[in-house]
Amino acid sequence: MLATVNGIQIAYTDEGAGGPLLFVHGFPLSRGTWSKQVAAFQASHRVIAPDLRGLGDSEVSPGPIPMGRFAKDLHGLMQHLKTGPLTLVGHSMGGYVALAFAKAYPEALKGLVLVGTKAGADSPEGATARRATAEKVRTEGSSVVVDAMAPKMLAASNTDAAMAAAVHGFMAPSKPEGVIGALLGMAEREDAGAWLGMLQVPTLVIAGADDTIIPPSESEAMAKAIPGAQLKVIPKAGHLVAFEQADAFNAALVDWLNSAGL
Ligand code: MLT
Repeated sequence: MLATVNGIQIAYTDEGAGGPLLFVHGFPLSRGTWSKQVAAFQASHRVIAPDLRGLGDSEVSPGPIPMGRFAKDLHGLMQHLKTGPLTLVGHSMGGYVALAFAKAYPEALKGLVLVGTKAGADSPEGATARRATAEKVRTEGSSVVVDAMAPKMLAASNTDAAMAAAVHGFMAPSKPEGVIGALLGMAEREDAGAWLGMLQVPTLVIAGADDTIIPPSESEAMAKAIPGAQLKVIPKAGHLVAFEQADAFNAALVDWLNSAGL
């Protein structure tokens, strides 16, 4: 489905009925990464999964895309869909967006799930490297990023070729302008560490034990800093934990949703 939000077309999935869950994908991915959660949770919840602007099937806008702009799009989509306050689940860059959302729109949140993500900003070297990658994408196309990141999305021990092909498929629609915008937006993002202690909604932090893109130690640190947060580290899972170990991920999410009454 498509909605016009903040002047651009956002593609999204909206299935089921019940307490609303909004799933936000990472970079340079798309909403297909949540297909196993859409399938599992639509029996009990309203499950919404958009493609962030410039990624997947959503429209591209020029220039850097700050995390707050992505968060504003989510808020606009919530208003369009009349969801009311909801539980936001953000993976990796989607987690950076979820933390920006929590700061900007605390009244719109009932719960927060941070998956394979971290609170800190890029180091100066990291930000410089992102800008250099953005320049490379400008001249050589999105494959620069897709080919570098796809092999790191799953655990190194995972030899499932169909799963690896699916991961490539989640990245395939990314347009160069959208990839560049997200890279530049991540390079300039704020350190969210300062407001973790002020989060006032039930929070679950999930990590893949074998994540090499954002190691589980980042999740452990966030869970310690967020009041009352629960931590779940899922074995045999890399960065894309919700897709790679969907049964274990979904079980952890069900338990937490039930305990939090969401
Ligand atoms: C992601 O999966 O969203 C990215 O790896 C995040 C990042 O590059 O910092």
